[in-house]
Amino acid sequence: MAPAADLGRVLCIITGASRGFGRAAVKELARLVRPGSVLVLVARSGEDLLTLQAELTQSEPGRTGLKVEVVVADVGQTEGLENIIRTSKKASNEDLDHVILINNAASLGDVSRYTKSFTEMSEVDSYLSLNVSSALCLTARVLQAFPQRPGRRRTVVNVTSLCALQPFCSWVLYCTGKAAREMMFRVLAEEEPDLRVLNYSPGPLDTNMQVEARSKTADPHMKKTFSDMFSGGQLLTCEASCSKLMKILLEDTFTSGTHIDVFDV
Ligand SMILES: NC(=O)c1ccc[n+]([C@@H]2O[C@H](COP(=O)([O-])OP(=O)(O)OC[C@H]3O[C@@H](n4cnc5c(N)ncnc54)[C@H](OP(=O)(O)O)[C@@H]3O)[C@@H](O)[C@H]2O)c1
Repeated sequence: MAPAADLGRVLCIITGASRGFGRAAVKELARLVRPGSVLVLVARSGEDLLTLQAELTQSEPGRTGLKVEVVVADVGQTEGLENIIRTSKKASNEDLDHVILINNAASLGDVSRYTKSFTEMSEVDSYLSLNVSSALCLTARVLQAFPQRPGRRRTVVNVTSLCALQPFCSWVLYCTGKAAREMMFRVLAEEEPDLRVLNYSPGPLDTNMQVEARSKTADPHMKKTFSDMFSGGQLLTCEASCSKLMKILLEDTFTSGTHIDVFDV
């Protein structure tokens, strides 16, 4: 089947929109939604979000009816989630036919230590709260705020990683969080057959997270692998990976709940 030309008249909420993959995804989405669509950009860095909002407002989609809302929020806090829902409800209207949530915000956690050093539950809880609990609770809130109804599609994307499937030495928080988060979305896909759920693994990206990976990773072999990928020009651009994600969303033929890696597209 030929892919759709666009994603429809969309309400799209995207977390971690201030930089990296999230920012690139916002720009790709802006080109692929119909006039009247609403993009809700979420992150803690308000200035970066406002710059992106201004850029989009002046772009062709902005001039022809794309609405861009900014929510400066920590998704690890309940008030942050409340703000996202409040803004999204206020900005949405009856004409929207596709609700998309992209759970992209994440942190790497402390990769400078090995598993046996994590003795403090509060440290682990705080990591999992931001990287697992917040994605579950935001998704649940969005599904309740925008329930299934005739003529409305709903898509939830979880930005996942190879680390959801494979153990990486000295990356216990990140691997645990990504694995838990991915299973959560697989359960959701089983429970909600009307929903389209995608676990998208964007590949090694040239972002701040990779800078952290190659400078802080404790495991020497892993650290060298990250440095070699960078110096060997093997990191992907966010734009290249995003365009693969958009291709998957436009084709809309994936099995709900599945894990799709950028290198398989
Ligand atoms: N980079 C890679 O090689 C790679 C590989 C596989 C998967 N991924 C995944 O791809 C996604 C994007 O990664 P990236 O490389 O673009 O990371 P990044 O450059 O570090 O960007 C992370 C984004 O998340 C936001 N964020 C972090 N903590 C937040 C919080 N508490 N509340 C709200 N927003 C928060 C950041 O915004 P603020 O700081 O402004 O809040 C930023 O916009 C992540 O899920 C990551 O795990 C990345």
